[in-house]
Amino acid sequence: MPSSRTYDVVVHGATGFVGRLTAAYLAKAAPAGTRIALGGRSAQRLEGVRTELGVDWPLVVADSSDTAALRALAESTTAVATTVGPYARYGLPLVEACAAAGTHYADLTGEVLFVRDSADRFHDAARASGARIVHACGFDSIPSDLGVLLTAERARADGAGELTDTTLLLVSARGGVSGGTIDSLRNQVDVITSDRAQRKVVADPYALSPARAAEPDLGEQGDALGVRREEGRWTGPFVMAPFNTRIVRRSNALQDWAYGRSFRYREVMGFGSTPVAPLLAAATAGGVLATGLGLAFRPTRLLLDKVLPAPGEGPSEKTREKGHFTVQVTASTTSGARYRTTVSAKGDPGYAATAVMLGESALSLALDDLPAAAGVLTPATAMGDPLADRLRAAGFTLTTERL
Ligand SMILES: NC(=O)c1ccc[n+]([C@@H]2O[C@H](COP(=O)([O-])OP(=O)(O)OC[C@H]3O[C@@H](n4cnc5c(N)ncnc54)[C@H](OP(=O)(O)O)[C@@H]3O)[C@@H](O)[C@H]2O)c1
Repeated sequence: MPSSRTYDVVVHGATGFVGRLTAAYLAKAAPAGTRIALGGRSAQRLEGVRTELGVDWPLVVADSSDTAALRALAESTTAVATTVGPYARYGLPLVEACAAAGTHYADLTGEVLFVRDSADRFHDAARASGARIVHACGFDSIPSDLGVLLTAERARADGAGELTDTTLLLVSARGGVSGGTIDSLRNQVDVITSDRAQRKVVADPYALSPARAAEPDLGEQGDALGVRREEGRWTGPFVMAPFNTRIVRRSNALQDWAYGRSFRYREVMGFGSTPVAPLLAAATAGGVLATGLGLAFRPTRLLLDKVLPAPGEGPSEKTREKGHFTVQVTASTTSGARYRTTVSAKGDPGYAATAVMLGESALSLALDDLPAAAGVLTPATAMGDPLADRLRAAGFTLTTERL
């Protein structure tokens, strides 16, 4: 990529909750000499963050409605990491600027419709300019996307065939939630409840496929709110499954279905095998449904707004430090072999660990020698193994075993 750019990485949204954490992570972990700038819509608030971090990085001011400022931002840097969300509300103009300027882009969206819009409108422009536009570079969906990639690569290296039934189990997770995430959820609930056509897009397991007509018809792949007993433990719905599964299926299609044409993928949350496990699973399924419904109806939404964090707020430092997550991707292959990939890390998954994932994604896009690819990509197809190596070096576990 052009080393003539002024910066290697701009952290845009650096005044927000995750933006500040990402900038703090880069201040600690970026290699010496990396040229980083802090981006946001308010010079004054950016000054505050710069002072708080104790860095001398330049500031780049750009409101999401200011096309000229976004173009200047995109043209000034090799890569942008943006936490300006809800992305459906603020995100597309920056994607457009990066796709036009050949600038690599990483974000933290978990919004299916935003990624669909981004791909429909800017995939071709990004391919033409060489930009890697990479959505979902946080807890959603890096553990899922790299977990499946590493499993498929190992099966291929062993000559064990392609993946068939593949399940991600959320074994454990501890952490909090920020106002920005709640705002994004609210925004999605609004669109889905008011627009039938969009509801249909979101319900499609291949909603993010680059070639919908070429996708196999594999029937129900397990996105429902079901509770069941499998392999000795109770499982229930994982709230991020509807997004993560669509990203992973996009990764498969972008690699010409390298995971397999019979690749059936689902994600579930584990509740253990104790007598209360099925009750916990059912209560979580009910909770997911209740939060969605609560945000959809005005009276309960007004109540929820009072208790949920506001934009800019998020989990305390103690919660972030005590957090952790472990996921396991278990897959069968066309030859009958079975594999399991474990992805885990210390730190609140949506915040401390997400700041590492977004920061390392941006460094990878700016500094690594990546396999040729451009367009609206996924973490696995844009960065793949080099990102997995970076995360291991940052203390994550990513290991694959044959069962
Ligand atoms: N994928 C994951 O695992 C994951 C985890 C956590 C969060 N997220 C997502 O990340 C996003 C950010 O979350 P957060 O908690 O950090 O939110 P936040 O604290 O509300 O931060 C939002 C940022 O966007 C900026 N912003 C808002 N409107 C803008 C505009 N018109 N132009 C330019 N900048 C603008 C804000 O600037 P000001 O400070 O000036 O208001 C702030 O820097 C959300 O969409 C959330 O869903 C994803």
